[in-house]
Amino acid sequence: MLSAMAHVNVELKARDPNPEVTTARCLNLGAVSAGTLQQRDVYFRTRRGRLKLRSQADDGSELIAYRRVDAAEASESNFVRAPTSESVVEALDFALGTTVVVSKRRHLLLWEGVRIHLDEVEGLGSFIEFEAVLPDAGDAETARAKLAHLRSELHIEDDALVSGGYADLLIDGPEALVRAASEAMENAYAPYSQFKVGAAVRGASGAIYAGANVENVSYPQGQCAEASAVGALVTAGETTITAVAVVAERLEVCPPCGGCRQRLSEFGDASTPVYLGPTTTTLGELLPGAFDREALA
Ligand code: THU
Repeated sequence: MLSAMAHVNVELKARDPNPEVTTARCLNLGAVSAGTLQQRDVYFRTRRGRLKLRSQADDGSELIAYRRVDAAEASESNFVRAPTSESVVEALDFALGTTVVVSKRRHLLLWEGVRIHLDEVEGLGSFIEFEAVLPDAGDAETARAKLAHLRSELHIEDDALVSGGYADLLIDGPEALVRAASEAMENAYAPYSQFKVGAAVRGASGAIYAGANVENVSYPQGQCAEASAVGALVTAGETTITAVAVVAERLEVCPPCGGCRQRLSEFGDASTPVYLGPTTTTLGELLPGAFDREALA
């Protein structure tokens, strides 16, 4: 298993705006459909490297511990795989906590030794992935030529390419943050305005802190969702915000109030992304000319 992993070259991953067209193009090229898999990877909080439990419908579960490698080639010592049962998920979640769950439906096609994955990833959308397994796809040069051919036949543009795994996209992208904000919004206490807001901030550690608005019968005592989230971040011992998401039940794009722009700016910088529903802005755009620490110096 270990040495097999070392020979797998994941050469390309891209967003796929139109999986149906892509499937048809693959079949036209002579790719053979090898079925559809349902995979779920649960990632746990660890002190070192990554730990995930991969479960595949009808094919059991395995625990995989690995270190992220920047080098193109994975070496044997970077992976430890242990067949297990899905029931350990609860114990690991209880003890370590879950960071992210990646669920996907994978349509596998085979073409000249290249595995083509048409993935439908929950919360992320559709992707295409080529995996040239050597030596099935020929030598390295032949495999590269095959991937270039596939890429051009399937019209995969440069800006569709993505680096990193699905877990990274979920952890680093807006999805997990927006989800945390939405969950927090469910608990908002807004009996006076009936305007439920949820906010989530990502700390430098990668952890996400969420908060909801908390109103009061003495109206000025109410607190915005962003203030609650910032409080959770600081309480956990963090003082840097790397991304923000704000959602409201009754507004597709809920612009943070002026006070909260200042609150958030304290811990982020002008380029910190702010996800507001379907739009993305930055703290700098939300609060140009901010009163900052330099003003005090
Ligand atoms: N609210 C927030 O939580 N964040 C904002 O940025 C805008 C407003 C809350 C405050 C109050 O509880 C409700 O929305 C209506 O103003």
